[in-house]
Amino acid sequence: MSQTFRQARRSQSLYRRACQVFPGGVTRATITFDTHPTYMAAGSGARVLDVDGNEYIDFANNFTTLIHGHAFPPVVAAVQEQLTSGSCFANPTETEIELAELICARVPGIEAIRFVTSGTEAVMFAIKAARTFTGRQKIAKLEGTYHGAYDWAEVSETVPPDRRGGAVRPVPNYRGTPNAVLDDVVVVPFNDVKRAAEILDRHGDSLAAMLIDVMPSRPGLIPLSQDFVALLNDFSASTGALIISDEVLNFRAALHGAAAAFGLNAKLFSLGKIIGGGFAVGAVAGAREVMDVFSTREARLLPQGGTFAANPVTMVAGRACLQHLNAPDYARIADLGSHARRGIRAVRERTGADISVTGQGSLFRIHPKSDPPRTYAEFYQTPEQSSDLKNILSGLAHRGILLSNTGLAALSTPMGPAEIDAFLSSLEETLKERVAA
Ligand SMILES: Cc1ncc(COP(=O)(O)O)c(C=O)c1O
Repeated sequence: MSQTFRQARRSQSLYRRACQVFPGGVTRATITFDTHPTYMAAGSGARVLDVDGNEYIDFANNFTTLIHGHAFPPVVAAVQEQLTSGSCFANPTETEIELAELICARVPGIEAIRFVTSGTEAVMFAIKAARTFTGRQKIAKLEGTYHGAYDWAEVSETVPPDRRGGAVRPVPNYRGTPNAVLDDVVVVPFNDVKRAAEILDRHGDSLAAMLIDVMPSRPGLIPLSQDFVALLNDFSASTGALIISDEVLNFRAALHGAAAAFGLNAKLFSLGKIIGGGFAVGAVAGAREVMDVFSTREARLLPQGGTFAANPVTMVAGRACLQHLNAPDYARIADLGSHARRGIRAVRERTGADISVTGQGSLFRIHPKSDPPRTYAEFYQTPEQSSDLKNILSGLAHRGILLSNTGLAALSTPMGPAEIDAFLSSLEETLKERVAA
């Protein structure tokens, strides 16, 4: 696929219209490589078509959500059937029990669950549940990690490394963040056991929870090391600070979820993305004794509602998505992930370009650096490197390969070796073109 010129007239005109009604011309963070976003018209399987008629292989998959790609027939059939019977009710429906049973049966550590409508809400309710259960306010999180838009969860998200190479000072994510938020967040470096232990020990038993993503995408898609996970487990066991496994993104890591795959002893989980089969979703889940804070049967300790929570359209889509996602499917897309990571390293060898890759399973992330980052400091990009990455992603998009704008790629079940090879040859062409220029 060596098509390098792409029409964008209709996208440009839509963007001009959008600028009249949306601040900055967009209504959420989206993929924008050049001067305007590319507006999509349709998607099917691993491919999407933009409004100007250009086709792409979609490695963004709505920020990792679409594990079966676009318009997955079992999801389409389930949703079509549900729509003819109504899209939402104030009453519960059987559909929510079916999806909950499926997740509880699959994930060790999830005994009870409550559905919400986004990963942000799932993280928020997990933090609230931990606070209610422990009676403590503070949370700990890892430097540079993204967990959605709840104030406490978004502290120190995009911060330049400090002198020691980390980003552990609680830094507000937006002007006007209440000081009280910063006072109640402890930021911990990842994969630095000694320093993390020093910081955690200072807060001893005042922590309600540690909000953990086992392979956080924002600071580089670098997996947590086994000794770091052991530190978190030990600290949780000795202080009562509950581990929240934020699996909004990394639930796609394995059939039994990310905490099980990494040996993280989580009492609470936040889920989202793939469990909704392509529809708006989130879920807070975990051990029954903790989840009982949501119970409305006795004194309700923690109120939780949501107009569209557990709406049957999302529930049937999520069920269809997960029912068609079994151990062999995970193994197959993980193999494709290994193929892609190996291929990127080979492209680096052949071109000599500054490119490296991190990730595991069905996820990988490219970095505009010669060596794969292992720490926050190694991950952090200079303005030149950020602009390099933007150009590489734009070169890929012009060749019909779509990645998220951080360089994150998520594989889907309709993909095969042909899609990975198309990505690798486009990457090689893009890098060679850059070297020549
Ligand atoms: C780890 C993690 N937590 C939470 C969220 C927020 O989820 P949502 O965008 O559904 O609010 C995301 C979204 O990308 C995420 O990656």
